[in-house]
Amino acid sequence: MKIFIDSANQHEIQHWLREGVIDGVTTNPSIMLKDEIYDIEEGTRRLCRLIGDRPFSVEVTTNDLAQMAVQARIFANWSDNIVVKIPVVNERGDSCLSVMNALTQQGIRVNATAILSFNQALLATKAGATYVSIFAGRIADEGNDPALTIRNVRQWIDAWGYSAQIIVGSVRSVIDVQSAALAGAHIVTVPPQLLPKMIDHKYTRETIAQFNRDAERALEEIANLRIRA
Ligand code: E4P
Repeated sequence: MKIFIDSANQHEIQHWLREGVIDGVTTNPSIMLKDEIYDIEEGTRRLCRLIGDRPFSVEVTTNDLAQMAVQARIFANWSDNIVVKIPVVNERGDSCLSVMNALTQQGIRVNATAILSFNQALLATKAGATYVSIFAGRIADEGNDPALTIRNVRQWIDAWGYSAQIIVGSVRSVIDVQSAALAGAHIVTVPPQLLPKMIDHKYTRETIAQFNRDAERALEEIANLRIRA
């Protein structure tokens, strides 16, 4: 399973690249704004250079289907590792599948985003999306079980031999990462503030403190034995 970082924060991305656990980056307009990237082109080009050939998802920002395709082609020219996020429907509920299909035919990788149901994932896969982004936290907000959606989509993709990969996003707590991983996500995109919580454990710290104390005591014992000899 791969881990992406759901962030446009250069320092966080650099840090977690150094830790060796990041396989790609996802963003959306809200993340860009939060991380103070107001010039999307400059920020995207800079972050794409930083992550080498790992995929970088950047989202279109219009309701107009023709404009989505225009934006997507512009984004795709910024760097070889660009993946364009296209929502499954726009604000009005118009299907964006035709945009996904056209871009895929043109060799542009699509991340079908804001997926909240099995059927949205099914249709985005059929339309040729490289990635289908299931928004776990937002599914749970509606009182539904994201693990069930993830598991069902994964079973269907595998049963029919599609190459689309499930990205689980809208991750709100560390248990969401575990649930998504066990439900069959190909990728979980994790907000940077959760990554330190995933690695730390107070009892691990205590365990290591005990080992370090005992190693020091062993050195003291050697010193005592030398004095007595
Ligand atoms: C994933 O690709 C999205 O960027 C993100 O996880 C959206 O989640 P949220 O807006 O519910 O936090």
